[in-house]
Amino acid sequence: MRFIIAAVFVALVTHGIQASAFRSSLQLRQQNLENSMMPSTRDVRDNQDYIGDDLPPQVPRLNKEAKWGLIRAHGMDPLIRRRGLQFQMHHSKSLHKKSKREVKPWRVQNVLPKRPVVPAILKPLVALPVDVCPREFDAVTKAANGRTYFFSRERVFQVYYDDGLPQKASFLIADLFLGGPRQVSAALTNSRSGVTTLFEGRRAYRFRWNRKTKRFHLARNTPQEFPRNITITPATAFEWVDGNQVVSSGDHFMIYDAYWNLATFTDHTRRYFPNLPRDLLGIVYQGGDSTLLMYTKSNKLKVYNATKFKVVLEFPLKINDYVGCLSA
Ligand SMILES: *[C@@H]1O[C@H](CO)[C@@H](O)[C@H](O)[C@H]1NC(C)=O
Ligand SMILES: *[C@@H]1O[C@H](CO)[C@@H](O)[C@H](O)[C@H]1NC(C)=O
Repeated sequence: MRFIIAAVFVALVTHGIQASAFRSSLQLRQQNLENSMMPSTRDVRDNQDYIGDDLPPQVPRLNKEAKWGLIRAHGMDPLIRRRGLQFQMHHSKSLHKKSKREVKPWRVQNVLPKRPVVPAILKPLVALPVDVCPREFDAVTKAANGRTYFFSRERVFQVYYDDGLPQKASFLIADLFLGGPRQVSAALTNSRSGVTTLFEGRRAYRFRWNRKTKRFHLARNTPQEFPRNITITPATAFEWVDGNQVVSSGDHFMIYDAYWNLATFTDHTRRYFPNLPRDLLGIVYQGGDSTLLMYTKSNKLKVYNATKFKVVLEFPLKINDYVGCLSA
């Protein structure tokens, strides 16, 4: 028990939750333990799905042939991405000519939106006033730059630590995520590619952090509308411990490939991801062990053990303790 608390404490501090806020909940919790009433633990236990010895099934992995088949079935060419990389490496005219000759009819039917033009001169990034706190958040993700982003209506709250000091500010979403949506209904970051995807309704925007401009820029071929046979309108999105990119809405989830804009798998959320908080906002994975930090729309932080598939601890959060704003 001590070990878990210590591990979570370290995770929280590095993650950007104010230590004082956490410490007070920790003290509360320890008091609870001492009184041996443990109300929060009991709540946590009672609301959980029974797992027993039957661990949930694993999301099947697609082999290359199956994945390529799926990409082709959606009218795209799985080789396009490779060609794109080749061009970037060689910038060779002959290669370009060659590819033009290879153009196939299906490519004409599936014209992807062109990469939006990023203005050469950017307006300075202006932080919004800190006086008003949002009541709740729409989405959260920890980006590849190590900073955590909480979205609420048109605003995004950025939280990170620099030299041990919390850095908190908020911006208009479209000012920080250039060309981004006005509001965000779900967000996730692919830790392998470093790409952060924002969802607005059934539209997905892929972004990469730019160190020079200190902003997110749209990646290639984005934004994209979901294909018609994706029936999910994202309410929550997250990367699971196994690296799967999960987009869910209530009882259903899909494994979403943001680059190809398609679902590689769909099923019932509870079957594959038992005991997720019903009002899950997003997940921040610390790496290393199987601990997932889950934020909920009711402003709680839940610590989920992905070996046990259970929430093992939970803490209430005060919005003005963890994002840059003064009063709730
Ligand atoms: C969507 O359509 C493609 C192409 O017809 C198909 O291969 C794929 O299984 C469909 N996906 C879902 C989730 O129905
Ligand atoms: C999660 O649960 C497993 C199995 O009970 C345990 O071995 C592991 O230490 C737990 N992880 C953490 C971080 O508490």
